[in-house]
Amino acid sequence: MNPVDLRLLPDTSAVSPDGSLSIGGCSVVDLAAQYGTPLFVYDEAHLRARCREAVDTFGHGRAVYATKAFLCGAMARLAHEEGMLLDVASGGELFVALHAGVPADSLTVHGNNKSLAELRMALTAGVRHIVVDSFDELDRLDALHAEGLPVPKVLARITPGVHAHTHEFIATGQDDSKFGFNLGNGDAHRAIDRMRRSPSVQLEGVHCHIGSNVFEASNFAKAAEVMASFAIPLDLPELVLGGGLGVAYVEGEEAPTITQWGNVLLDACEALGVRSSVSVEPGRSIVASAAITVYEVGTVKQIPGVRTYVSVDGGMSDNPRPVLYGSGYEAFLPRDVRAGRPSRARLVGKHCESGDVLIFDAALPADLRVGDLLATPVTGAYGHSMASNYNKLTRPPVVFVRDGEHRLVVRRETYEDLVSCDVD
Ligand code: LLP
Repeated sequence: MNPVDLRLLPDTSAVSPDGSLSIGGCSVVDLAAQYGTPLFVYDEAHLRARCREAVDTFGHGRAVYATKAFLCGAMARLAHEEGMLLDVASGGELFVALHAGVPADSLTVHGNNKSLAELRMALTAGVRHIVVDSFDELDRLDALHAEGLPVPKVLARITPGVHAHTHEFIATGQDDSKFGFNLGNGDAHRAIDRMRRSPSVQLEGVHCHIGSNVFEASNFAKAAEVMASFAIPLDLPELVLGGGLGVAYVEGEEAPTITQWGNVLLDACEALGVRSSVSVEPGRSIVASAAITVYEVGTVKQIPGVRTYVSVDGGMSDNPRPVLYGSGYEAFLPRDVRAGRPSRARLVGKHCESGDVLIFDAALPADLRVGDLLATPVTGAYGHSMASNYNKLTRPPVVFVRDGEHRLVVRRETYEDLVSCDVD
């Protein structure tokens, strides 16, 4: 029944006298008319505020934006301008960050299976840190050293054996994980010994990331405790505690703020006697609630006694999270933000499969009709970045809004883009 919870919307969201939504001083209905749908609208002030909060909480050089959550040139530059370092997890992310003009010495390179080519690219560029994930990667770094490439500063990714309370697919700290050197079976110590003796790497510290969309501060405190007892005797300059702070996606969810998260981590480290510089890699908490996705409703199918299906012009290609992780979202009308939502329907996309669901049981306004714009909040993280061309849909554009101005930062793909890689 309730209208959408305005706390889920970007910071500068405002309800106009006619009941419609503006973000950054721009009418969402007008943005959709100008740029078409589906459309990602990001609140630039919100993005900047979250970056600054992270830098203020952890300190300059200690807040690293995890670009996998949302990356394009404009976002890379924005995070860099606000004083964040950037974490990249593939050659492609590294390329985009460098292409955006972010200096290599602001970049940390991640990945559980970095190729020789990706490592060569990182070493040649002169990145700040490589987070070494496996013994095979150390072999590759030895080979690159033999080629005469510069010796990188590295962190060792440790799997601390802490199980974060989140979806199985995005929990990474437990022993049964493809990531990092396990603490429990001695691999972590063996890796540190090897790195300390190796002429191919300069070991600067240790790293962990227990999982993503974690709400409970106690999970982070536990990881800090395990990592501190491992790291303190090593006496290395850096301790990185990963990302993973959860965000509220639906009504009733509450997540710690970046500041609260920081206090938990930093207090725990201080109490444990950590002397290293403590840094973090937030992705979702920087960008998730900064954006909404705007769709147009194309069909409303009522099946009496069964359910109603409301179809929009996007779907699992712009937001695969409901299908992948069962993630919940809300929906509302940008023309009437305060409308009650007494109707129930399954909000689906336009892909050729029944699994193409955006909201399994959506609360929707009673007067929702074909042709309406419908928006889902909190789509700024892992939406555009996980978008696909399934069914050859073109990926949506991204618009940044701020102080009454809007600018297109990623254009909509065209049909020509869809054939641009075909060579035969
Ligand atoms: N650092 C490392 C090493 C990571 O693997 C990740 C996320 C982060 C930082 C950032 O975590 P965040 O603060 O965003 O939670 N596609 C999934 C999330 C996968 C996260 C992968 N790693 C989703 O849509 O929920």
